[in-house]
Amino acid sequence: MLSYTLISASLLAAQVFAAENEAEVVFAHVPLMNKEAYDSGEAHLALMNLMQGSVDDFKSSFAEMVQSQANMEFVPCVDGYSTYTENHTYACKNADLYAFTPHWAMGSENRVGNDIWGWTDPGSGREFGLVAQGDGTAFVEIQHDGSVDFLGRLPTQSVDSIWRDIKVIGNFAYIGSEAEGHGVQVFNLTKVLLEPGLKDTPKEYSITTDLTAHFDELPIGRSHNIVSHSSKPLIVAVGSMPRNDSCAAGLIFIDVADPENPKGVGCASEDGYVHDAQCLTYHGPDTKYEGSDICYSFNEDAFTIYGINNTTAPVIISTTPYYGVSYSHQGWVVDENWQRYLLLDDELDEVFSKGWASDNTTVTYIWNIDSLEHPVLTGHYNSPAKAIDHNLYIIDGLAYEANYKSGLRVIDISSVEEDPTGSLFEEDDDVGGVAEFGGAWSSYPYFKSGFVLVNSMERGLFVLKLTN
Ligand SMILES: *[C@@H]1O[C@H](CO)[C@@H](O)[C@H](O)[C@H]1NC(C)=O
Ligand SMILES: *[C@@H]1O[C@H](CO)[C@@H](O)[C@H](O)[C@H]1NC(C)=O
Ligand SMILES: *[C@@H]1O[C@H](CO)[C@@H](O)[C@H](O)[C@H]1NC(C)=O
Ligand SMILES: *[C@@H]1O[C@H](CO)[C@@H](O)[C@H](O)[C@H]1NC(C)=O
Ligand SMILES: *[C@@H]1O[C@H](CO)[C@@H](O)[C@H](O)[C@H]1NC(C)=O
Ligand SMILES: *[C@@H]1O[C@H](CO)[C@@H](O)[C@H](O)[C@H]1NC(C)=O
Repeated sequence: MLSYTLISASLLAAQVFAAENEAEVVFAHVPLMNKEAYDSGEAHLALMNLMQGSVDDFKSSFAEMVQSQANMEFVPCVDGYSTYTENHTYACKNADLYAFTPHWAMGSENRVGNDIWGWTDPGSGREFGLVAQGDGTAFVEIQHDGSVDFLGRLPTQSVDSIWRDIKVIGNFAYIGSEAEGHGVQVFNLTKVLLEPGLKDTPKEYSITTDLTAHFDELPIGRSHNIVSHSSKPLIVAVGSMPRNDSCAAGLIFIDVADPENPKGVGCASEDGYVHDAQCLTYHGPDTKYEGSDICYSFNEDAFTIYGINNTTAPVIISTTPYYGVSYSHQGWVVDENWQRYLLLDDELDEVFSKGWASDNTTVTYIWNIDSLEHPVLTGHYNSPAKAIDHNLYIIDGLAYEANYKSGLRVIDISSVEEDPTGSLFEEDDDVGGVAEFGGAWSSYPYFKSGFVLVNSMERGLFVLKLTN
């Protein structure tokens, strides 16, 4: 079951954070693997192999059931479940399921989902989802009643891959993948908006004639994630293998002021491989950096902050390992307008029961970033459910965590300023769960309509809405 359990009422017991006795080595930074294993890519390869194994498993065990899934319309959450049919029953709380569309019905042969992003047409306010799949990107429109129209898709630029990643700046989508030879596709989303009749006859766009541009300057075309600066025309490709390239699979900056001519404008290789990042203009208490462009980056064995005012001469502001570090994966600032806290998810701590994830329950790391040069881990939050965490996004005091097999979990984090240990975060749910890959890869919670998109690896696109 994919559960999309949500904000709750009950208060969890405080997670004791500080060591009572200084002699206790609670905060020893003992990473999952040694430095060589991170630097050589062995740690990342282990993660990718686990993921590949899970995909092979579900393809061989329940692919048939997955393939028989049909579109679903509104299924409210009643007594803790959205119940459609026997194989479409989802645990839920404080959220209703408005629609579900399986990957096959969005034109995918490969039928494995991954990243997801959204685009709102500034003229009409119409809302579109960009659903990443192993073999391409599906474009859907979310209607006012939450139903989904599949409009078309853009195939992969080279071969299939479990990893595809998308961001949107203005009216253009930027799409990268771990597939060799892929590069970054630049796609003009107004094509999907303006072309008539797509709802009845979805269109397969051409990777040659329908692209606005194709950025082919990544070392071998691969990237693990695509990051967009939140307020500037800058795309950052991260994890662009190989690691022995001059950019070291770090941050690769692409100026997209003119989407028809994306331009490589430097890279940050100094801390090696970057798995994911959030890049923005800094506003917060650290006056030295006010107005600076920075990237909060998640670099496998550390949390690293870069200054990127000059993309041809980026600087490392800090690099900080942390208790339980196993695979520093992704994170997001709590408030972009006044950056004091950031939540980080580590992808392997639950799998290997490290640090606060010793019982396999999902751990969210809470960082105080009042000083960019000395970020401090002030606390953590253990979900009551066992699950690996993947991407998290934050809006209006709510963290939307796509936690693989425990689904989308929305956590009220508005208490973080009051108590940055995380002890006041609230959630209650069926406990249980498994620290395995599968289920919810990512969510997109930024539509004005309040519809939240979730991309499930095995199944397809879920459209949800919080009930209050
Ligand atoms: C539900 O899934 C099971 C296991 O794959 C399958 O045997 C069964 O036929 C499915 N039920 C329906 C109604 O599709
Ligand atoms: C994007 O597409 C729209 C609609 O077809 C067109 O008017 C616009 O010029 C395109 N922009 C670019 C940069 O290709
Ligand atoms: C870089 O690494 C790749 C494997 O990722 C290897 O095939 C290649 O020979 C290496 N190049 C150099 C110059 O070391
Ligand atoms: C980066 O540029 C901004 C805006 O020009 C400036 O306010 C800031 O001080 C610069 N940061 C650094 C570290 O030079
Ligand atoms: C950016 O850094 C490069 C390389 O150090 C330097 O040549 C250039 O002058 C810098 N640009 C600015 C605007 O400071
Ligand atoms: C934690 O997860 C691992 C990997 O899935 C599993 O082997 C182990 O039994 C789990 N431990 C608990 C306490 O659930």
